[in-house]
Amino acid sequence: MWRAPGNNRHRIGEMSFWLDIARRAENAGFDAIFLADVVGVYDRFNGVEAALRLGLQIPNLDPLSLIPAMAAVTERLAFAATFSTTYEPPFAFARRMSTLDLLTGERVGWNVVTSYLPNAARNFGLTDEIAHDDRYERADEYLEVLYKLWEGSWEDDAIIADAAADIFTDPARVHRTNHRGTHFRVEGPHLVQPTPQRTPVLFQATGSPRGLDTAARHAEAIFIGGRTRDEVRAKVAETRAAAASHGRDPNDLKFYVMAGLIAGRTEEEAHAKLERYRKFYSVEGALAHAQAEIDLRAFDRSLTIAQALETSGRAFGNMGRRFGPQQTIGNALDQISKFDEGRFFIAGTPEQIADAVETWLDEDGIDGINLRQYHTFETLNDYAELIAPELRRRGRLPEPARAGETLRHRIFGQDRLPDTHPAAAYRASHQTSRTPETVS
Ligand SMILES: Cc1cc2nc3c(=O)[nH]c(=O)nc-3n(C[C@H](O)[C@H](O)[C@H](O)COP(=O)(O)O)c2cc1C
Repeated sequence: MWRAPGNNRHRIGEMSFWLDIARRAENAGFDAIFLADVVGVYDRFNGVEAALRLGLQIPNLDPLSLIPAMAAVTERLAFAATFSTTYEPPFAFARRMSTLDLLTGERVGWNVVTSYLPNAARNFGLTDEIAHDDRYERADEYLEVLYKLWEGSWEDDAIIADAAADIFTDPARVHRTNHRGTHFRVEGPHLVQPTPQRTPVLFQATGSPRGLDTAARHAEAIFIGGRTRDEVRAKVAETRAAAASHGRDPNDLKFYVMAGLIAGRTEEEAHAKLERYRKFYSVEGALAHAQAEIDLRAFDRSLTIAQALETSGRAFGNMGRRFGPQQTIGNALDQISKFDEGRFFIAGTPEQIADAVETWLDEDGIDGINLRQYHTFETLNDYAELIAPELRRRGRLPEPARAGETLRHRIFGQDRLPDTHPAAAYRASHQTSRTPETVS
């Protein structure tokens, strides 16, 4: 939708664009900005041509590098950045995240992904993607290495900085990692001193049984979806139960949905805005994003996808994650041609939107929303000016974060991961787990 009049998306290469987003999000009362990422191009649909021409996640800047700039102009806003466990080894990533956590004043979260683009695999020296479930198996070990580095390598008070004694860091309080696993070997120690959070807040989104298993072990904040209240509630319950089966407290997980909120002062204004956005929605872009191997628009709507592929001499295997072989072309096109429907979409007045958000919170059992940004900065401005005041009036928006508060404290009321989280097993034995009282 970058072409929509007034949209600033074309400015992604400018520092001022990111600073603008950060300031506006903080002023609007957001806890965090979510930074998505892919490390390849969507090239199944019409090669790289469609993605490049339409600006589909390319150009795509490195999200971790954007954070210090945005942190420098904000005090409370946190940053949940996406990074893949599949391609770059964990040691350097651990260092980068600890650096970001220090520089931002512990305002960093990590959206753990395993990546899904075949081109990403070929960018990192592989001939094709690692199989889906194997990627999650690798992610589990990746996280284990990170916990050893973040939680176990440095004791809290290792840095003494005693000039008279000529000791900067007490060597007895920094430990080697000595990880020797299936995929990684890391001697350690970690290169950065610990931050109050140590492990950044762990976000994850998943749709598969294997992904759910990894999320249930590790994730603290989970992006979830669903078409109905009951579907969402069932997924939340299933994930909490899976977490409990791994020895975690099921209440230590928070659930967020990606929500589309289009606001107007009147219903007419909201729907006019929706119409305006609709004009710039690209079905071709949606097909490319869904990794469709064939142009569904060229086939009879009554055919199944399997039949259309057969006439094109292609197998279903490469058709992306959004489609099913028995789905009709018409149904698939309808599904991806719309961004303005589903359980978590609403266009309306602030009151109508607040009613919907309250329903999602109370009936679906979610903890918050990840606001879909249609138009930069109109979406943020509308949220700040129209939606937030109404949610605040109803007592649905917490007070803004305190400057200096860690992201984990903001969300969970404590700086450190709870003792029932698997990361806790890697803490050096002398390390005490800190309670909210002792850190505030
Ligand atoms: C809100 C949301 C944001 C996501 N952001 C990314 C992202 O930035 N990069 C990425 O590679 N995958 C992203 N994903 C995809 C998930 O990591 C995951 O692969 C997907 O939900 C399918 O689940 P599965 O991997 O268990 O099959 C996102 C998913 C959701 C729901």
